[in-house]
Amino acid sequence: MTSESSAVATFRAPRISLIGFMASGKSTIGPRLAARLRVPFVDLDAAVTAVAGKSVPQIFEEQGEPAFRDLEAASLSQQLSQPAMVLATGGGVVERPMNRERLRQDTLVLWLDVRFETARQRLQGPAGRRRPLVQSSSWDDLARLYLRRRELYAELAHFRFECDRDLPARLVRRMENSVRSFTEEELT
Ligand code: S3P
Repeated sequence: MTSESSAVATFRAPRISLIGFMASGKSTIGPRLAARLRVPFVDLDAAVTAVAGKSVPQIFEEQGEPAFRDLEAASLSQQLSQPAMVLATGGGVVERPMNRERLRQDTLVLWLDVRFETARQRLQGPAGRRRPLVQSSSWDDLARLYLRRRELYAELAHFRFECDRDLPARLVRRMENSVRSFTEEELT
């Protein structure tokens, strides 16, 4: 991964994953990008919730984070059997090496990169109350988590998009252009 213009020679199928820290915009951008590319949109947290029959905060509270990670990994494997989609992952999907391997191999990975300050501002409101890690961690802890995960996102991504400033519509256009630049045959 270097920039938006880097190419992934081996990528063929329009199976796209969105990665990035909490509140980077994956669930907002995902459905719009999927609509533009005319592929289904899948939200990995929603898939986990459907399998577990409870919300993400409930899973964390009742079963703990490791159980959530197990469900997340299983749902990821299951979703990757779909031939085409935009998949919005949870910010912690990169914690498991196997998830990273699967995503890198089976999807075109788009990283929504925000500065920590941007994420923090977004997470201070209601968005933070829905996220168990925000509830249970200090801002210093979250900053450390952000820095550690940033390296994993950078390693995993095929494309990186700075997402602090652009409105969703413009960001989606930038992403669509990048995707189309090397999946043209499959998507037109
Ligand atoms: C998590 C991010 C969340 C969700 C869960 C854990 C994380 O998804 O999967 O609360 O570890 O960063 P979002 O990235 O959509 O907030």
